[in-house]
Amino acid sequence: MNSTEKKWWKEAVVYQIYPRSFMDSNGDGIGDLKGIIEKIPYLKELGVNVVWLSPIYQSPNDDNGYDISDYRRIMDEFGTMDDFQQLLMLCHEAGIRLVMDLVVNHTSDEHAWFVESRKDRTNPYRDYYIWRDPADGKAPNNWGSCFGGSAWQFDEQTGQYYLHFFSKKQPDLNWENENVRNAVYDMMKWWLDKGVDGFRMDVISLISKDQEFKDGEPELTGYSSFNVCANGPRVHEFLQEMRRKVLSKYDLLTVGECTGGTLEEAKKYASSDEKELNMAFQFEHVTLDADTNNKWGLKPLNLVKLKEIMTKWQVGLEGKAWNSLFWCNHDQPRMVSRWGNDREYREISAKMLATCLHMMQGTPYVYQGEELAMTNMPFQDLSEFRDLDSINGYHEMVEVKKLMTSEEMLTSLRKKSRDNSRTPMQWDDSTNAGFSTGTPWIKVNPNYTEINAREQLQRPDSVFHYYQKLIQLRKQHEIIVYGKYELLDGTNPDVYAYTRALDNEKLLIVCNFTSKELDYPIPEMYKDGSCLISNYPDNTIGNKLRPYEAYVLHIEL
Ligand code: GLC
Ligand code: CA
Repeated sequence: MNSTEKKWWKEAVVYQIYPRSFMDSNGDGIGDLKGIIEKIPYLKELGVNVVWLSPIYQSPNDDNGYDISDYRRIMDEFGTMDDFQQLLMLCHEAGIRLVMDLVVNHTSDEHAWFVESRKDRTNPYRDYYIWRDPADGKAPNNWGSCFGGSAWQFDEQTGQYYLHFFSKKQPDLNWENENVRNAVYDMMKWWLDKGVDGFRMDVISLISKDQEFKDGEPELTGYSSFNVCANGPRVHEFLQEMRRKVLSKYDLLTVGECTGGTLEEAKKYASSDEKELNMAFQFEHVTLDADTNNKWGLKPLNLVKLKEIMTKWQVGLEGKAWNSLFWCNHDQPRMVSRWGNDREYREISAKMLATCLHMMQGTPYVYQGEELAMTNMPFQDLSEFRDLDSINGYHEMVEVKKLMTSEEMLTSLRKKSRDNSRTPMQWDDSTNAGFSTGTPWIKVNPNYTEINAREQLQRPDSVFHYYQKLIQLRKQHEIIVYGKYELLDGTNPDVYAYTRALDNEKLLIVCNFTSKELDYPIPEMYKDGSCLISNYPDNTIGNKLRPYEAYVLHIEL
């Protein structure tokens, strides 16, 4: 089996919904399942084949649903199991498959397993989590939590520490324990038997911990733990077991969030022989503008580096494993504000970024609002943030470690906070962007009067219609799904150009990542090619690239 072997999930485009911020049907300010149901026609019009829902399970919402207290219940704020069944049925009727988020590296500390586990050292659920004695009166080792501070929390009741890579309300499950694994597999089967079409697996690369629990390199923030702990000794064994016992029995889309994943690891997680998952998310490209020592530090993007990394993954997985393609998700700021231009070239640059990604090999993911070129939020004040990572980060950097001033940190948060992508979906120019008739749980971006779905649906040259066209092209041209990728002009600091090849067809993709006009002659071979898509209204292509211009030429040899 190799990467040109046809599979529906290779040909799909996935749309990620962050339910809290998508559509509120009952005016409580929080998005919900009935809200999603209302918008199925919108998703159908966009043309996506799959919807991935960020967690909708019962949760105290310390981390907006990524802290699950009951895997078999729907979060009250989001609706009921009946609403869910209806959503699933209506998605299927519309030809859209539904993929659930699977968060099994950790649970909420309010999950019944943890409530039991922390009661006493001999409780049958004790070993469902990772408990260790203090070392010299301190935490068992120096691992940091991703959300700041130590990854260990001392629990008075039994005098031991438990491990939490994320917040202290998200204790890590002990995957060494077979009962934990079987309980997770049962729960997965329970959802699959309801008819869900797959899972996006949250930080799945972290589930296996090296049982020596050795110190890692001390660093400023907890991302260091990932370098020490990602891709642990038994992770592939666990996923192969999961595949054997659960996944292989269904026809699914499975994608692992492989934090800290390398190319070699991804070849195992997402290998074409289907021993583990269909594909993996890698994060190398979205860390390029971050300071390696300080996750809140900013650094400009170097396009040559971006090309190197994307190319490494495109070429490295060719024929061996399958890529997933994304610019945005609920943990990333808005891409048009990040590597595009969210002022005078907002629409043009968003279309350019979309072209660059959607013409690559792999399964593309569109995050809600990306198809409208929604932007980062002009946050004024710390009180406007909701994300615990941003709020903890502020306290740690400004108040505890005093490494940044308040103004510096707010500048960083305006660029990097996860809340940038969590502001409500902008449906129209009515109150609260048509998201809610109540008070939204997080502020609506004030630019909704200009940037909204209703306006874009009416306008043929909108970003929405551009995404719609990219999605259609992928359905029409096999070369976009399966063609072999090759980078052109790797050292050009302004232009990202590459080709795709399948049988006797070729594609040329050219993207200007700057607001400058550039000389970029069309390569001889493509001069008479037909233009599949381009982002300037007149549709003419020449030897000069206009600001953020992008085009795709198709030839047959
Ligand atoms: C993943 C999720 C993120 C969450 C974390 C802990 O990275 O994408 O939103 O905070 O895992 O579950
Ligand atoms: Ca609601």
